[in-house]
Amino acid sequence: MASPLPSAAPARVVVLVSGSGTNLQALLDAIGDDPEGFGARIVAVGADRDGIAGLERAERAGLPTFVCRVKDHASREEWDAALAGATEAHRPDLVVSAGFMKIVGKEFLARFGGRFVNTHPALLPSFPGAHGVRDALAYGVKVTGCTVHFVDDGVDTGPIIAQGVVEVTEEDTPEGEAALHERIKEVERKLLVEAVGRLARDGYRIEGRKVHLGHVGE
Ligand code: GAR
Repeated sequence: MASPLPSAAPARVVVLVSGSGTNLQALLDAIGDDPEGFGARIVAVGADRDGIAGLERAERAGLPTFVCRVKDHASREEWDAALAGATEAHRPDLVVSAGFMKIVGKEFLARFGGRFVNTHPALLPSFPGAHGVRDALAYGVKVTGCTVHFVDDGVDTGPIIAQGVVEVTEEDTPEGEAALHERIKEVERKLLVEAVGRLARDGYRIEGRKVHLGHVGE
């Protein structure tokens, strides 16, 4: 699958968040006032809940926001269709799940498959799911990290775009999950900025499990 990117205009990006939004902030800071130079601009931020720092960051940046809560819909399918519609309204070229703690459904993937990017705080395919940092610590790994990948219909199973490595030390006790997560997030923010920028600037192809950056149309 060849992407429609890059084009002359900066790629339109919708970011989905559920929490503190530091990955969103890293993207906002990297784009700054030069979306042409970066190759992308964030056109809206969506969330599955109210009252989170991620939405405040978006509002401070003057971006439109939308909230789509599962409990406001009769079924998970209806929520998924509503999320897809709210996202589509901003005509994104790419959608980035940056700490969005929900699994999207068929409708969302039908519309955004192949251009829906997620960042995960572990070295996939190890430790998928909502507790990647905790699960890696409990397993006793010596290295962990983060993975930026395209989303498919599995849980954190889609083609990998980029990975970053973080060492686990003797000081990383099971109680130290938050501290290890912070070290991972330092690497993750840079990785996500680099990955989104390259997808937007250089284009990409997805062939099976392989993501090739650049070389669009070859
Ligand atoms: C990030 O570490 C991201 O990988 C993780 O949530 C954090 C969000 O941080 N996502 C998942 O665990 C998804 N399974 P942020 O809100 O500060 O960007």
